[in-house]
Amino acid sequence: MKRMIVLGTGSFLPERVLSNADLEKMVDTTDEWITTRTGIKNRRIAGKGEETSKLASKAAARALDMAGLAPGDLDMIIVGTITPDMGMPSCACLVQKELGAAKAFALDINAACSGFVYCLDVADKYIKAEPDMKILVVGAETLSARVNWEDRNTCVLFGDGAGACVVTGKTGKRGLLASKLFSDGSLYKLLYMDSAPSMNKELACQDNDGSYIKMAGRDVFKYAVRSMDMAITNVLEQVQVPVEDISLIIPHQANIRILKSLGERLGIAGEKVYINLDKYGNTSAASIPIALDEANRLGHIKSGDLVLLCAFGGGFTWGAALFRW
Ligand code: UT7
Repeated sequence: MKRMIVLGTGSFLPERVLSNADLEKMVDTTDEWITTRTGIKNRRIAGKGEETSKLASKAAARALDMAGLAPGDLDMIIVGTITPDMGMPSCACLVQKELGAAKAFALDINAACSGFVYCLDVADKYIKAEPDMKILVVGAETLSARVNWEDRNTCVLFGDGAGACVVTGKTGKRGLLASKLFSDGSLYKLLYMDSAPSMNKELACQDNDGSYIKMAGRDVFKYAVRSMDMAITNVLEQVQVPVEDISLIIPHQANIRILKSLGERLGIAGEKVYINLDKYGNTSAASIPIALDEANRLGHIKSGDLVLLCAFGGGFTWGAALFRW
């Protein structure tokens, strides 16, 4: 049986750093509050010419390079994002254009911070049907464009960036062993973001009153811990893998306290939970592939390791994916 394996990973972060000290000058906050309540120290902010599709394309080029493939080898491009450059075309189509991946068809998935895990799960279904496909899977965001910079509850949390991987099917024990996705749209009001308002007043959505991210942080926190625990447990049960066999968990990077609570619930050692949110903040769909690429390039993942990805985000959406690397 052929499984979906990762041929290469890549990431790209804008150069501009926004520190907690910078935020102290913008809103009523302190480095101490942000550090102790979230674990975040810095985040990256995209500048001119660094739209989501550009960040995504740069991360993709690095993943292709590691995979030893050219853009023309790609059959499919899937981008997880809630901050596409435009309503139409999709960010994935712009990535296809930027890379010159003429053979690939392209689509976006809107699953907020779970976007990358959602994209991987979809890629896996295609690989199961056509194992020789080469698929580019990207998570990319420019959340700085959708944050209310006067709202201290949210503006200290988010950052911009992109991560990517190239996958294909291969016979053997390595590859994606199991994945599982969940959604609960009934809870959307706890975390949502507006889009361009409707031009037809009769169709205007009453919640679409601006363009900023809105979040009931404390509620989201509780759901995030419980939901990621549930998704991980589901995936491990599917393949009868005990939690202590996991080499590395690469979770969505939202809050250090969420990750500590998750580790405690699962009974997994702290050093097995990969954390880089101190440097980049919450980059939504980009956070897992950025962390995955960083861990991969730093040599924290070895062939044969069991690597578990898990995410939670607006929608609500959540899920997990288990690889034997
Ligand atoms: O990525 C998708 C999923 N997102 C998440 O998983 C995020 C989940 N939630 C969280 O990470 C946390 O709930 C936050 C970091 C957003 C907030 O932390 P919290 O400990 O839950 O704080 P809180 O919202 O309950 O607010 C506590 C206090 C409030 O003041 P009062 O009402 O107690 O006087 C806030 O106004 O902290 C205040 N506060 C701040 N103070 C200084 C909120 N933001 C700030 C700030 N600086 N930036």
